[in-house]
Amino acid sequence: MTALDTQPHPSGTLDHDGLALGADVGGSSIKIGVVNRHSGQIVGSTVKVTTPKPATPEAVVAAIKGAAEKLGWTGPVGVAVPAVVRAGRTHSAANIDPSWIGADIEALCRQELHPDSVVVNDADAAGIAEVRLGAGREVRGTCLLLTLGTGIGSALFTNGVLVANTELGHLRIDGDSAEKSTSASAKVRDGLSYPDWAARLQHYLEYVTKVLTPDVLIFGGGISADADLWVPLLDLPVEIRVAQLRNDAGLVGAALAVPHR
Ligand code: BGC
Repeated sequence: MTALDTQPHPSGTLDHDGLALGADVGGSSIKIGVVNRHSGQIVGSTVKVTTPKPATPEAVVAAIKGAAEKLGWTGPVGVAVPAVVRAGRTHSAANIDPSWIGADIEALCRQELHPDSVVVNDADAAGIAEVRLGAGREVRGTCLLLTLGTGIGSALFTNGVLVANTELGHLRIDGDSAEKSTSASAKVRDGLSYPDWAARLQHYLEYVTKVLTPDVLIFGGGISADADLWVPLLDLPVEIRVAQLRNDAGLVGAALAVPHR
């Protein structure tokens, strides 16, 4: 774990006025960092902790708590998780432990971390960050962010307002969830070249763009770092952009989702 560049408060804790801790929960690691909620900038360095196994809600929250303690952080936490989140409960578990289904995760975070903590879907969190600070800034109309990773996450905005929990990675394409054949992990699993994978992406995105007619489509997820190898292979009726906050988008967006008091 890397220490924050900022000096801790003399009491040993960080002053959390205007700041929030963001945590982005992934299958192999949880990325954590302190974010200025006004500017959206990360304060100091981000840290990564290994996702516990099994990654139950309790174990994940305990891992975030341990990291927060090491950072001297006692303020509110925004947590991004790869699941549908409604009224503080997680309702799906496509790529995480099944115990997340029905978990009262926000109550657990409020009890274990800080009473003002919030939990949001990871793609929605990334979208919040990109629309506020990155590739989705000032987009008028419909802006869709797709995160291409282990699964496919989606965040849909209309004039900057989020329509939460869209789960477009689970659109049925050729009889199964699109993410099964089209995620970045499917590319690795099936040993696909970029042209072969881009053909699958084209097939899926023709459908997505036909039903939603987005004005701007933003690609996020680790594979977006190689966007110049596959974005030019796509032919779609939409302006394509690449996410700017890259791997930090989830944690920044989660922190931005913490309400101002
Ligand atoms: C989940 C989404 C998540 C996406 C990216 C999908 O399998 O259903 O909730 O946003 O993966 O992590």
